[in-house]
Amino acid sequence: MTKPEKSPGSEQTAGSTTAPGESTGTAAEPRQGEPLLKVSGLKKHFPVTKGLFKRQVGAVLAVDGLDFEVRAGETLGVVGESGCGKSTMGRLITRLLEPTGGSIEFEGTDITHLGVRGMRPMRRDVQMIFQDPYSSLNPRHTVGAIVSAPFKLQGVQPEGGVKKEVQRLLEVVGLSPEHYNRYPHEFSGGQRQRIGIARALALSPKLVVADEPVSALDVSIQAQVVNLLDDLQEELGLTYVIIAHDLSVIRHVSDRIAVMYLGKIVELTDRQSLYDTPMHPYTRALLSAVPVPDPRRKAADGRERILLQGDVPSPMNPPSGCRFHTRCWKATEVCRTKEPPLVPLAAGHNVACHHPENAPDQEPGDTKLLREAGVSKS
Ligand SMILES: Nc1ncnc2c1ncn2[C@@H]1O[C@H](COP(=O)(O)OP(=O)(O)OP(=O)(O)O)[C@@H](O)[C@H]1O
Ligand code: SF4
Ligand SMILES: [Mg+2]
Repeated sequence: MTKPEKSPGSEQTAGSTTAPGESTGTAAEPRQGEPLLKVSGLKKHFPVTKGLFKRQVGAVLAVDGLDFEVRAGETLGVVGESGCGKSTMGRLITRLLEPTGGSIEFEGTDITHLGVRGMRPMRRDVQMIFQDPYSSLNPRHTVGAIVSAPFKLQGVQPEGGVKKEVQRLLEVVGLSPEHYNRYPHEFSGGQRQRIGIARALALSPKLVVADEPVSALDVSIQAQVVNLLDDLQEELGLTYVIIAHDLSVIRHVSDRIAVMYLGKIVELTDRQSLYDTPMHPYTRALLSAVPVPDPRRKAADGRERILLQGDVPSPMNPPSGCRFHTRCWKATEVCRTKEPPLVPLAAGHNVACHHPENAPDQEPGDTKLLREAGVSKS
C-alpha cells in the first residue's frame, strides 16, 4: 500500500496542543506546498585528529553540499546506503549539530548559526524522532515525565495542565492515559516508538524529522507506526522529513524523495517519477535491489537486477568527479574528472549525472566506458 496523493486544497491545521495565549503564527506560516525549510550548500565535515595534540589529519565529509527544500505539508523521504550522511543531515536541519558550511532557513529565517537562546523558539517548531526507541527514552523516567519534558523545557503551560495534555497525547498515538506512571521497560518496541512520537508532538511542531523511525521494530509493527505517522500528518498538518534505508518504507510515506550518496543528493523528485523513471544510475541500482522472494528472478516490477560492485568508498577520501564513478557501470572519463551538478532534467526532477537514465546524455561527446577503457577507477 502506498500513500495516496494529497489533494492540493487540503489546508494545514494547527495541532491542538498549542498553549493558551500562544500564537500559531498563522500570518507568517508558509501555506501548503510553500517552502518551510530551505537548505543551501549544507556541509558537515567531522575533523579526524591524531596524537597527543589532536592534530587534524583529515576530515569525514559526512554531508558535503546539500541543496533542497521541504515544503509545508509534505513528506520528504531521504534514502541511501549506510554512512551516506542521512542522520548527519537530519541532525543538521534540527540544529543538533553545527554546520561546517552552507545555510538553513526555517520559515524564511536564517537559523544556520543560531545560539541556544536564538534557537529556543524554533526548538518547538522542529522536532526529531530517533531511530532506536530503546536508547532514546530515559529508563529511569516515567512515560509521563518523558512526554512532559518538552513543556517544562519550553516553559509552556497547556490548558488543563501538563498531565492532562500528556494523557491526551498518549491517546493520540494509540497508548492509554493510564500509561502515564509506567516506565519505558514495560513497553514493547512499537509502543516505545509511540512514546517517542508523543514526545515529539508535545509542542505542536511544524516540522518533524524522523530518523529511521521504524527500522528497529519488527516488520509486523513497522506498518502500524508508519500508518500512525501518516494519520498524524493528516490530522495535525505536519511536515515530515523521513530518513530510511528501506525503499519500501520510503515509498509508502513520501511525497518527494531525495537519494543520497556519500554526502551528496544525487536525485530529488516526486515519488512517482523516482519509481517510474529513475534517472540516476545509483537510484536505479537501489530500486532494482528491493528484495524479491526469489533473488534469481528480476525485481518485483520486472526491472533487471543490478548488483552494485564494491563497498561505499570512505567519506574521508571520496572519489574524484562523480563520487559514484567507482561503482557505476556507465562511468566514462568525464565522470572521473568532473563533478556533475544537481540540475533539473525534467519538471521537478533534479539529477546529478553526466549520463542519466531516461534522459538525454549530458556529456554527449564522452562515450568511452571506463570499464572498457581499462582505466583504474580512483
Ligand atoms: N560525530 C561524528 N564524528 C565523526 N564521524 C562521524 C560522526 N557522525 C557521523 N560520522 C561519520 O559520518 C558519515 C555519515 O554518517 P551518518 O550517521 O550521517 O550516516 P547514515 O547515512 O545515517 O548511516 P546509517 O544508515 O548507517 O545510519 C559516516 O562515515 C560516519 O562514520
Ligand atoms: S556521472 Fe557518470 S559515474 Fe556518475 S552516475 Fe552518472 S554515469 Fe555514473
Ligand atoms: Mg543514520
